[in-house]
Amino acid sequence: MGTQDAITLHAMGAEAYRAGRLAEAAALIEQAIAADGRMPDFHYNLGIVLKAQGKLRDAAASYQRAIALKPDYGDAHNNLGSVWKALGQTDKARASFEEALRCRPGHAGSHYNLGIICAGSGDAQRAASHFRHCLDADPDDSHGARILLAQLGVGPAPLQTPPAHLLKLYGARAQFWDTEIYFGARLVADALQAHAARDVLDILDIGCGTGLLGAIVRPLAARLDGVDLSPAMLEKAIAKGVYDGLYQGELAGFLSGRPRGYDAILGAATLIHFGDLTPIFQAAAAGLRDRGLFIFTLFPTVAGTDDFAVAANPGLAQSGCFAHSPGYVRRVAAASGFAVEALEDVIHEHDPDGNPVPGLLNVLRAP
Ligand SMILES: C[S@@+](CC[C@H](N)C(=O)[O-])C[C@H]1O[C@@H](n2cnc3c(N)ncnc32)[C@H](O)[C@@H]1O
Repeated sequence: MGTQDAITLHAMGAEAYRAGRLAEAAALIEQAIAADGRMPDFHYNLGIVLKAQGKLRDAAASYQRAIALKPDYGDAHNNLGSVWKALGQTDKARASFEEALRCRPGHAGSHYNLGIICAGSGDAQRAASHFRHCLDADPDDSHGARILLAQLGVGPAPLQTPPAHLLKLYGARAQFWDTEIYFGARLVADALQAHAARDVLDILDIGCGTGLLGAIVRPLAARLDGVDLSPAMLEKAIAKGVYDGLYQGELAGFLSGRPRGYDAILGAATLIHFGDLTPIFQAAAAGLRDRGLFIFTLFPTVAGTDDFAVAANPGLAQSGCFAHSPGYVRRVAAASGFAVEALEDVIHEHDPDGNPVPGLLNVLRAP
């Protein structure tokens, strides 16, 4: 086999990775490396696949091989840092991220990663400096640096997760979303079943993602629409084949174009990406017919004191999430004309270490 075969095998491996066939992807890229081991990108991409498979030490070894072939390979240094971080080797992670930054001065992703490391070790000042550099290089804030500056108490929180951050976050998570230990969609679907007065409804799934919720509520729907900003998530929803209409876009704008269009508006883990809920409650009120249901999940604020805030949990904050208090939900619901039918503490999901993450399940009724 020659270099051309190696390039073909590598391309097939990359395609298998994009389709989520990780074992096949690893096998194909390993064959490519066996055919020609001099290509830094092959080792780099094998590192990505091995990391996705949870084989962190093997992934580190692949990135190190890529770096041995191309010492100024900034992306490889950066990804190696992420693997060391996942292995709990913070000093090595910091060194790799710093090396990545030396290869590509001002790089937003490496500043972001160093900011997270500094915040985790209690160096808030240096963390804030890295997050600010990240924003300088990435003004659309695809990394979510503004939310983290707000969490550090050194900047105002954005009104909602910036679209660029949502696109990046869910572009990466779409492939694995359906395998996460997450109960939000089931909680919303069960609440709809419990509170709906009729069997057949026109339903809108806001922030429908990969269609987990749509797949459960389809039997209750005369018409089922979904809207989401993320093309990667929508691609998975399309593949499920359960929606009558799927739309890509900002959900407030979508709702404003469909007054009194639905009997139920559902949002599983969608409004976690909004700070002030007033505009979205008003949009939902306008989008519902008489006695329509608005059912969604949120994360609760710590001790329920603040109306809403950037999530205190560092993992959730890095995912661009906000938290809300039940009292705040009740006030905004009343001001938007909704009656509260239920507001329950629930287990929303498990974090990567298997710990339960609390949520709030909200069932509101239009007049
Ligand atoms: C945590 S995921 C939940 C997906 C789905 N509801 C489920 O339960 O599996 C949140 C989804 O909301 C979408 N989203 C968040 N804010 C949005 C906005 N302002 N407009 C449209 N989609 C949004 C994201 O793109 C993402 O797919």
